[in-house]
Amino acid sequence: MKMHLWEVLGIEKPILSAPMAGAAGPDLVAAVCNAGGYGVIPLWGKSKEQVGAGIDELRELTDRNFAVNLNLSFPYEDQLEMCIAKGVHGVSLFWGMEPSAIERAKAGGLTVLSSVGTAEEARTAANAGADVIVAQGWEAGGHVWGKVSTFALVPAVVDAVDVPVVAAGGIADGRGMAAAMMLGASGVWIGTRFLASSEATIHDVYRNRILQASEADTQWAHNLYDVAWPDAPHRALTNSTSQDWIDKGCSAPGKRPNEGEQIGQRPNGDPVVRYQSYTPLPETSGDVEAMSLWSGQGVSLVREIKSAVDIVDEIYQTAKGLLSSGQTAL
Ligand SMILES: Cc1cc2nc3c(=O)[nH]c(=O)nc-3n(C[C@H](O)[C@H](O)[C@H](O)COP(=O)(O)O)c2cc1C
Repeated sequence: MKMHLWEVLGIEKPILSAPMAGAAGPDLVAAVCNAGGYGVIPLWGKSKEQVGAGIDELRELTDRNFAVNLNLSFPYEDQLEMCIAKGVHGVSLFWGMEPSAIERAKAGGLTVLSSVGTAEEARTAANAGADVIVAQGWEAGGHVWGKVSTFALVPAVVDAVDVPVVAAGGIADGRGMAAAMMLGASGVWIGTRFLASSEATIHDVYRNRILQASEADTQWAHNLYDVAWPDAPHRALTNSTSQDWIDKGCSAPGKRPNEGEQIGQRPNGDPVVRYQSYTPLPETSGDVEAMSLWSGQGVSLVREIKSAVDIVDEIYQTAKGLLSSGQTAL
């Protein structure tokens, strides 16, 4: 029999904050955990020691369960060993399907959340021991693994596996959560909505674009922002960089307008170049509008900044009300 998500994760509200490299730091993740949800902290791209320090830092802010997000397309083995050594509750694995990684995490005592884009991948992950499947639909912001929309993907994945399925992509309010639960999901994994939380660590220019963008203002591309992470499809807000690229014929990497041009600086002084895969932080300088402003299609539902705890409560209460009212006429 399928276990309940709240038992697997030890949570009160089936709302997970999506890992968002750069944007979802310890403050956001801890706030979601402390609100009764489950936070996922991206620590991929860090050294083993930094992963350990990141776990310690988060534990200062919450004594609730959380997961560490690791990227399977970069070296992850040492990071996974550190998660095991630290005895974190969970590990979230994305951008690849490696049964051996799931098996190692399970053998190390971790709860495994595996991100997938098809029902077939979900079966592979569940057979390897994954405890929770994250079904990420094409509407999602940031790097998008699959090509199937959330509405079609979630029920297909739910039917394919006997473990809880969490829906991701385009869910930004209680209506989206209620719809996902009706499709059979056991919980929701939310990114873009939390970009407008007071705890998200993003630049004001980026945040303001999120608050004003419509559902038609994002663009999926196979390799637009490919510097530092090639061949990894993604969804971001349309901006001067993407518009110029489109206007000049969507040329291939190496032949794009202003390729290699420095458009800004990271807080540590390192350059940010055009077409770089990079989340602009509060202290990033330069032409922030032209950087990769990751966003999902649900962005039109994101109209104000709230604390993460208020976002969790609002989404949960609205979804609960909708699911228990039975007032929708057929
Ligand atoms: C700014 C940003 C950064 C992201 N970084 C990561 C990441 O580091 N790891 C990951 O697994 N997913 C990442 N994603 C994808 C999210 O985990 C999630 O699948 C997506 O945000 C869900 O769709 P939504 O934005 O419509 O809620 C990112 C998304 C955004 C918007």
